[in-house]
Amino acid sequence: MNLLTSIFYLLFISLIPTFTSGQLLFQGFNWESWKKEGGWYNFLRNSIPELSNAGITHVWLPPSSHSVAAEGYLPGRLYDLNASRYGNADELKTLIKAFNDKGIKCIADIVINHRTAEKQDGRGIWAIFEGGTPDDRLDWGPSFICSDDTLYSDGTGNPDTGADFGGAPDIDHTNPRVQRELSDWLNWLKTEIGFDAWRFDFARGYSPVYTKFYMEQTRPNFAVGEIWNSLAYGQDGKPEYNQDAHRHELVEWVQATGGDVTAFDFTTKGILQAAIEGELWRMKDSSGGPPGMVGLLSGNAVTFIDNHDTGSTQQLWPFPSDKVMQGYVYILTHPGIPSIFYDHFFDWGLMEEITKLAAIRIRNGIRPKSTLRIIASDPDLYVAVIDEKIIAKIGSRYDTGNLVPPTFQIAVAGKDYCVWEKSVQE
Ligand SMILES: *[C@@H]1O[C@H](CO)[C@@H](O)[C@H](O)[C@H]1NC(C)=O
Repeated sequence: MNLLTSIFYLLFISLIPTFTSGQLLFQGFNWESWKKEGGWYNFLRNSIPELSNAGITHVWLPPSSHSVAAEGYLPGRLYDLNASRYGNADELKTLIKAFNDKGIKCIADIVINHRTAEKQDGRGIWAIFEGGTPDDRLDWGPSFICSDDTLYSDGTGNPDTGADFGGAPDIDHTNPRVQRELSDWLNWLKTEIGFDAWRFDFARGYSPVYTKFYMEQTRPNFAVGEIWNSLAYGQDGKPEYNQDAHRHELVEWVQATGGDVTAFDFTTKGILQAAIEGELWRMKDSSGGPPGMVGLLSGNAVTFIDNHDTGSTQQLWPFPSDKVMQGYVYILTHPGIPSIFYDHFFDWGLMEEITKLAAIRIRNGIRPKSTLRIIASDPDLYVAVIDEKIIAKIGSRYDTGNLVPPTFQIAVAGKDYCVWEKSVQE
């Protein structure tokens, strides 16, 4: 091989993962993980072989900074990774290194909408922040809090650029020092701790203009934002959701961040968990495509069944527990970027079934932007062809009639689902 050929060859090899299947995410914790004896980081290290075997490319880890709440979502001293209930900084670094050794990248849970203060100021208001480091990084005061923060109403910064979070002071992201110091902290998480990617917690809490800014300053390998709004029934009690407005909000947020960020597809989750109860007609929208964000901007839609809020022990918006596998059949065969939840994979005994589906996705090269052709969307039967390579069926009706051509053979079948692959002989 001459030099030029070698260079092309190397380039091609390095691009293969993007060409084939794209990302496969895994949420590596639940609402109770901080309670694990011996520490969650140490515990999760034992799960790496199974996650690697399933083809996981990115693992989302819990917020790692000091936090007033055990789960990590009320962070205070951002640089202090030793006060976390999940383990200390060394254990975290060891975990990330072990994932990286298997080619898996780690997603940090970035909680920057709000921050808990260390002390009260002269007026008895919780408004004095300290970096918790020898220098004065992130050593903020009342002028760093949004002026309209409802709970900490004497913040003297600019008005909030997004939704208010009630549990802690909302940080003023228009402040150049906030922008600079948070960017520095994110880059420190990359270089010192080993994270490659971000999950932006409560990203509705500040303008996407700032998400865009932090993306530009930190250039992560992957990023996903949490834009969680309720999916409500429409007027007059009709069985219609506000799904179009709901998914458009996700798309508009992604576009306003510059387009490099993905968003959790809460629309697909909401519609799918209603549809799975004998209303599978919901899985085809009026234009014939999928009804979630995945139908509009699949390359930026992170599809999921449940997370630490919606499921786990919080159960804020859980997927019907007896139909979770049908949910995974949908997200693992369809366009979008699927995310698998810890509980389903490890605690519910679904590892084998989920791994089989992931293998089908990977060997058929199903990608975030794969094509989808829906060929049945009856109350009890949904069938779709993906990239003309695989056919996925969910629903209680067993007989698919003549929908599946004889050139396809069963790759996996389970309770109320089946996936076919095109025969290799063909
Ligand atoms: C954690 O504690 C160790 C040992 O005391 C210290 O060397 C390290 O700097 C701390 N790291 C973080 C990120 O908090």
